[in-house]
Amino acid sequence: MSKTKATITMESNRKPNKMKICTPQFNIDYSHFKTSISKRRRTAATRELTKIAYSMPHSVISLAEGMPNEETFPITEISLKLPDGTRLFLDGEELAAALQYIPSQGYPPLVEAMRDYQKRAHNPPLWENRDVVVVSGSQDGLSKALEAIIGPGEPILVQDPLYPGASVVLTPHQAEMIPIKQDKLGIIPEELRNTLIKREYEGKEMPKMLYVNASGANPTGTVIPLDRRKEIYRIACEYNFLILDDDPYHFMCFDEQPRTFLSLDTEGRVIRLDSFSKVLASGLRLGLITAATPLVASIELHMQSSHLHASTLSQVLFHKIYKTWGFDGFMRHYAFIRSFYRERRDKMIEFARKYLQDLVEFDAPSGGFFLWLKVNGIEDTWKMVMQNGVKNGILLAPGAAFMADPSEPCSAIRASYAKATYEEMELAMERLSRLIREELRLRADDNT
Ligand SMILES: Cc1ncc(COP(=O)(O)O)c(C=O)c1O
Repeated sequence: MSKTKATITMESNRKPNKMKICTPQFNIDYSHFKTSISKRRRTAATRELTKIAYSMPHSVISLAEGMPNEETFPITEISLKLPDGTRLFLDGEELAAALQYIPSQGYPPLVEAMRDYQKRAHNPPLWENRDVVVVSGSQDGLSKALEAIIGPGEPILVQDPLYPGASVVLTPHQAEMIPIKQDKLGIIPEELRNTLIKREYEGKEMPKMLYVNASGANPTGTVIPLDRRKEIYRIACEYNFLILDDDPYHFMCFDEQPRTFLSLDTEGRVIRLDSFSKVLASGLRLGLITAATPLVASIELHMQSSHLHASTLSQVLFHKIYKTWGFDGFMRHYAFIRSFYRERRDKMIEFARKYLQDLVEFDAPSGGFFLWLKVNGIEDTWKMVMQNGVKNGILLAPGAAFMADPSEPCSAIRASYAKATYEEMELAMERLSRLIREELRLRADDNT
């Protein structure tokens, strides 16, 4: 938080949702969307003191915090080398900051940089009403956003199939996952509308949120086109729900990159999750939540009671790279990543066509890491993949793992083209063809 924005005092213990002062313009009652647990969260005084310490003038002496003395840290320098040979060093005050506690919202210079990054990347309407919080990977953001909004047994709309990282958060809360079918362009707006009309007619509780991966969905690789995004957004406004856009593959759309839900969000209904795992390094464990300020404040309060903040060292390293490359340099890096994975996607498709011709059906993924293969003649791939896959020298993800209802059989398989070498990819497709043929043979034998 910049010095000028540091308006929070200990009074915020009584007003937990006031994170920064702004003119309210979103006409949404966010308390309607929060769980009772989320509403009961209060700031930790110690965390507020850290925030104040970061923004106060150097002349103020702080005896308030429980920070260790950096002189005791057994690291005196960190250096890193970028692919173009640029060397970056952390030492002195910067290193001390990188090894120290920080405010829960994030390393203040990075938070400031990420505000600018989001404005430039998405140009969201009414930006003054939004904020960002740095999280420990988008999975951390995902679980905190879901837990802030979906209470025990409450309904939530989910794209089906969906990333299992969302279902593992929702299942223990016994949330009712309402599956919305996708085709090769992602969530189908008519399915969404019909589901809502039916629910309303039946007098069932209406969902407060839609969970979606708008670009390069996990596991199907679909990218929702702009006209669909607009229609889905219209439906969200009509039926008063939030859109949780978990969008780690946004910068990996292989054709065009449609405007994000955040960029369309005139009403303050979009919670955007960014991940730096796929575009920087997954081990840094960094992600970003961008949402209306009261929602960001709820997430920050949750962090105050969980892991305090995302790794400072990771945040400072990220900030160092961001300062070196700038926004445009990041966009150039993303362009490299996009073409890197596009080439891999093309290779994978080439091998899938060569070895799996009559055995599977698939659509070319438009973004992300995954090829979603629907196997002909096998109703459920679970046993084949989990029991016989490794024996045949191949590990894949069975489709049922991605179903909103995991007890439903699923004929699909998810194959990643992100990491394997081209030789391994080819061998894997050849082994998969043998695995499927063997399974089909066994079935045929059972039926005779
Ligand atoms: C759709 C989706 N969301 C979230 C994540 C988790 O990302 P992170 O490493 O940022 O926690 C993944 C990782 O595979 C993902 O595919």
